[in-house]
Amino acid sequence: MKSFYITTAIDYANGSPHLGHAYEKVLTDVVARFRRLKGEDVRFLTGLDEHGQKVQQSARQRGIEPIELCDEAAEKFQGLCKRLEISNDDFIRTTEERHKKVVRALLQDLYDRGEIYQAEYKGYYSSRAEQFLQEKDKVDGAWPEIYGEVTEITESNYFFKLSKYQDWLVDHLKNNEDFIFPRFRAKQVLEFLKEPINDLCISRPKERLEWGIPLPFDEQYVTYVWFDALVNYISAVGYGTPDFEKYWPVDYHVIGKDILLPPHAVYWPIMLKACGIELPKGLLVHGWWMTGGQKMSKSTGKVINPLDLMDEFGADAFRYFVTREMNVGQDSEFSDELFMSRYNSDLANDLGNLLNRVLTMTPRYCGETFPARTIEEAPEKELEAVWAETEEQVVTLYEEFQFHKALELTFNFIRSINRYAEQRSPWKLAKSDDEKDKQIVATSLSLMAEALRRAVGLIEPVMPETTKRVYSLLGYKTDAVWRERLKASDALTGCKVGERVILFPKPQREK
Ligand code: MSP
Repeated sequence: MKSFYITTAIDYANGSPHLGHAYEKVLTDVVARFRRLKGEDVRFLTGLDEHGQKVQQSARQRGIEPIELCDEAAEKFQGLCKRLEISNDDFIRTTEERHKKVVRALLQDLYDRGEIYQAEYKGYYSSRAEQFLQEKDKVDGAWPEIYGEVTEITESNYFFKLSKYQDWLVDHLKNNEDFIFPRFRAKQVLEFLKEPINDLCISRPKERLEWGIPLPFDEQYVTYVWFDALVNYISAVGYGTPDFEKYWPVDYHVIGKDILLPPHAVYWPIMLKACGIELPKGLLVHGWWMTGGQKMSKSTGKVINPLDLMDEFGADAFRYFVTREMNVGQDSEFSDELFMSRYNSDLANDLGNLLNRVLTMTPRYCGETFPARTIEEAPEKELEAVWAETEEQVVTLYEEFQFHKALELTFNFIRSINRYAEQRSPWKLAKSDDEKDKQIVATSLSLMAEALRRAVGLIEPVMPETTKRVYSLLGYKTDAVWRERLKASDALTGCKVGERVILFPKPQREK
């Protein structure tokens, strides 16, 4: 059976992990976990993009070897994955032999078949951006600040015949409407392809850049950044071995909107086509985390270190926030205030209080275990009706990458449970000696626990640790598959109620 194969972009080794990197990993992880819960065999790849001028320069400045810098970065980024509870099956580094081998084999094959040729190249070069520029990149007659120093150079380089595939690519995009999610991005790609594209310069002379994979047919050159980086998606799953078919074609490459055009929407499909390899089934393109209207990144100095938020509030709270706030495909504003407001209202109040109520009142009024439910009147029926609708819609929303809405509906349901608790007010009825009142107390506490059990099942792709903890606090042990676990049941009857804990403590600091 073919696996569901999903990848993130591989991050530049030259930077430190920031919110953008963390978000992309969480988003991909949510998809991967959802698919696993549905019973699919999932392969989830992330990794590090280690070659290039910037790594070479930074290493030189620090007086260390480039590989030492990459080792440090790999540790940081792998550490980030761990702290975020990312369930990746593999972490590829482009300096690994398994990767370099595939890059060189592809280059040789393309060269042998005349898809790569050598030519003189004359142009403006920005060493900061590591790219050649054109007159049209000037703003008001000058090179924008982001390019740093720009010099005019002539050199001989190798080119990949990109342009001859342009019409084919346009057809492919038109015939495969689901290739890019969200769809409006495919329109941008088609718009881009209305202009003729140039062949792609895929090399850098060694005297200018040493830290790269040497071209197999001319060792005086190394590969240009994209021809190296994109290949990670196939080198990591054994391209050239029988294993490859188990994973390829990839189901989704998850990427930010800045690397859709041209790398993932133009270079990559054409590289694959030219190599006779099947195309990805889809690209899942997310927007940017912004702050004060600007893309968050290291270079703008507006880095929110995700590790800091996780130290204080835990990985699940962080994962919840980014998944709840971002409508995949759009940009989203980040602020500490927004984070705190979601944390306090959704997690500490709605979810945390519900658990607290169950864990406090059940032992007080019913004993050590959850009692059977004996009453089914309008309030119970209403809550069950809300659940039936919620479950169905949320699973569909997960399928459609509408994670923010999936969480919104799930937390609406959690609020419905709290409203049900208010309606039944077991804390008031507990004082009554009436037999029916006693039954309502037992039923309402048991139903609150049962509804909570289902709700935390629904958030498992996003908050896996919370699901586990709440299950354990409710004394719920199960081997049932996910969809079974989401079903209404009396699984908790007789289960031992756990010790009272505060799942999402109110923060020390008040914002
Ligand atoms: N190394 C290349 C990708 C090669 S993939 C074959 C690269 N690296 S990156 O470190 O700059 O970015 C990695 C991913 O993080 C990209 O998908 C990028 O869009 C994403 N993000 C970086 N900053 C971001 C935000 N502020 N918001 C959301 N994601 C953004 O590009």
